Formats: sequence, structure tokens, C-alpha cells
Amino acid sequence: MKIVIVENYEEMSKRAAVIFASQIVLKPDSVLGLATGSTTIGMYKELINIYGRDALDFSKVSTFNLDEYYKLDEDNEQSYNYFMNENFFNHVNIKRDNINMPNGKSEDTVRDCARYDKKIVDLGGIDLQVLGIGANGHIGFNEPNTNFEAETRLVELEKQTIKANSRFFNSIGEVPTKAVSMGIKTIMQSKKIILLASGIEKADAIEKAVNGKITPELPASILNLHKDVIIIVDRDAASLLNK
Ligand code: GLP
Repeated sequence: MKIVIVENYEEMSKRAAVIFASQIVLKPDSVLGLATGSTTIGMYKELINIYGRDALDFSKVSTFNLDEYYKLDEDNEQSYNYFMNENFFNHVNIKRDNINMPNGKSEDTVRDCARYDKKIVDLGGIDLQVLGIGANGHIGFNEPNTNFEAETRLVELEKQTIKANSRFFNSIGEVPTKAVSMGIKTIMQSKKIILLASGIEKADAIEKAVNGKITPELPASILNLHKDVIIIVDRDAASLLNK
């Protein structure tokens, strides 16, 4: 696990965007694993900037998002479909057919999750996966005490996560209590992973993920067992490291 400590959110976003851009330049048909959340918005902005300078071509890239809320319409402004369109997909030349999101409105979630995982495998696996982290150490929507063997599936959200994410909704009652999330196994099969964290509220989770034991209680701790992980953290998120 390589840890890169940067000054602030902007620098974290730029570092992450450079890693993504290099991946696409070196392999134009890369399979990218994408994340939502306020942490990744700056990275997407940077990638859009690089694209605007004619320095990046997304036309051969395929993407798979980590998660989607259960039973939210795609045009609901809080859905991750909406987030991705607004913050990234609408601004670059990615092909709509190459965009994959977990289906939060499936009639048969088990079948569609299995298809999602199979499509990733059929495309040769995820080349580069970006992750944020929840204050409770979740990655994707794999909450504490998650099964490390799990693939994409329907999950229940923790109270803490519902509360944290309620900042985007009109009221906490509107936050879905379930989501469809890529599993830890799916994430761990990615060839390269970058995890981003910014802000003091992530410091505890980062400290436990880096220095603590590998346990389902802190889902991000599993990343210690992956051979190619870069954690990019700003000063605040890194503030409990090396103490
Ligand atoms: C959300 C998402 C995660 C994200 C995390 C942190 O619930 N499911 O993929 O990494 O929580 O979100 P934020 O970046 O807004 O702090």
C-alpha cells in the first residue's frame, strides 16, 4: 500500500486525475471503476479539464460504477446515475453504451448483479478502480461487517451512512436504506486501486485502514492485501497517521 500525503483537496484531485489520464493514454480501451461522493468531484473536474485541452480520449474507455441507491429513479438528482452524468459523463466523449451502473431499479437484482460482475470479467477486469471511503471505513457501500467474499449485491446501509449522506437530500427520511454495491471481492479483483480521502472526518477511518488489523469491521482494511493500491490523502485525512 503506497500512501501519498498531499496538502489539500485540490492537490488530491489533481494527483488522482493524472493517474487516470496516464491509464487511459497507456491503454485507450481501459476498463475504469468509478466512485461517487464529494471526494471524487474534483478529480472528475480535472479529467474534464484535461479532456478540454484535447489531451485525453474517452471514446474506447468502459466504466463500471461502484454503487447505486436502491429504487431511486435515474433522473432523481440524488441518484448516482444523475451524479455521474452531471459531474463527468456529460462532459467527455465517453460512449453511452460503454457506461455501466449497477441497476438500483431491477426487477431481479440477483440476476442483474451477476450480469454486472460477469460483464466486468468478460471485458478483462477493471484496470483502475477509484474509491472514496466512508467515515466508518466503508468502500463502495460495503458497510462494516461486510463479507469479504461478496460480489455485487443488494446491501443495507448503516445509520451513520444514511445520516452522512442525508446532507444531499431534503430530509433524512428520503435517503434510501438500501443500495446495490459492487462487493469487496469485485473491488479486490481490480488490477490497480486508488483510494482518495479528504477532511478530518475521514482521519480515523484512514488511520484504521492503514495501521489497524485487517477486519470486516473496517472494510477498507482489506486493501492491505492488494498488490497495487495508492492512498492519496490530504493533510487533514492523514492527521492521525504516524502518531
Ligand atoms: C458514499 C459512497 C461511497 C463514497 C463514500 C464517501 O456513501 N457510497 O462510494 O466513497 O460514501 O462519500 P464522500 O466522498 O461524499 O465523503
